[in-house]
Amino acid sequence: MEFFEVVEKRRSIRKYSDKKVPTEVMNKALDAALLAPNSSNLQTWQFHWVHSEQKKKNLAVACLSQGSAESAQELLVVSVRPSLWKKTSQDILSRGTPAGLEKLMQTYYGKLIPFLYGFQILAPFKWLIFNIVGILKPTPRKPWSLRDREEICIKSAALACQNFMLAITAQDFDTCPMEGFDESRIKKILNLKFSDRIVMVISVGERVDRGVWGERYRSPRDWFIHEI
Ligand SMILES: Cc1cc2nc3c(=O)[nH]c(=O)nc-3n(C[C@H](O)[C@H](O)[C@H](O)COP(=O)(O)O)c2cc1C
Repeated sequence: MEFFEVVEKRRSIRKYSDKKVPTEVMNKALDAALLAPNSSNLQTWQFHWVHSEQKKKNLAVACLSQGSAESAQELLVVSVRPSLWKKTSQDILSRGTPAGLEKLMQTYYGKLIPFLYGFQILAPFKWLIFNIVGILKPTPRKPWSLRDREEICIKSAALACQNFMLAITAQDFDTCPMEGFDESRIKKILNLKFSDRIVMVISVGERVDRGVWGERYRSPRDWFIHEI
């Protein structure tokens, strides 16, 4: 499918047919998700493709028994684990850096990222440094808090969600992103850490006609697009 056709065809589907989603379709879309742009390439995302029938049922309940989750053929939970930055930074450095960029990469992943993502005890101090330096020159003011770190991870994971959904649409199946869920229950079902955050649950299947709630609607374009 051509790109704009895929964008037009993707709709949020609230009811799916009984048609199974081939494993290859899911895997191809998951691979596309992993190619999403992400902050500093730290890849702090996690994709939980739930196979267990019992867990799928429990998940649907945790998604407030939404029709989209209950009728889904597949359910994907996308979460973030901010602490993954340590493992991925090391991985990036261990791969050998592009010629001429060794020093930059060592400083970035060996010093700057640990300063920004680690040493949480220094959070107020970081805030102070950013805001004092910021008076003198343009300075990134974040991340200094755990919340900022989470926000960065969630932005990247959301882009991966979109890659996944478009890749599913391009293969003639459908999706619905959901944030109507009980995060604590989902974390319990998937045995996740306290510091993990659930970004979205994405249902996958083939749409039935009544699975699409009406014509697609967006408010006027000029409310959102500003040419300055
Ligand atoms: C972050 C996010 C959370 C959403 N949560 C839900 C949800 O819990 N249940 C649902 O039915 N739709 C959910 N949606 C789908 C939106 O309602 C839908 O994208 C919007 O109405 C536009 O419709 P479209 O996706 O068909 O273009 C969510 C979408 C996003 C991006």
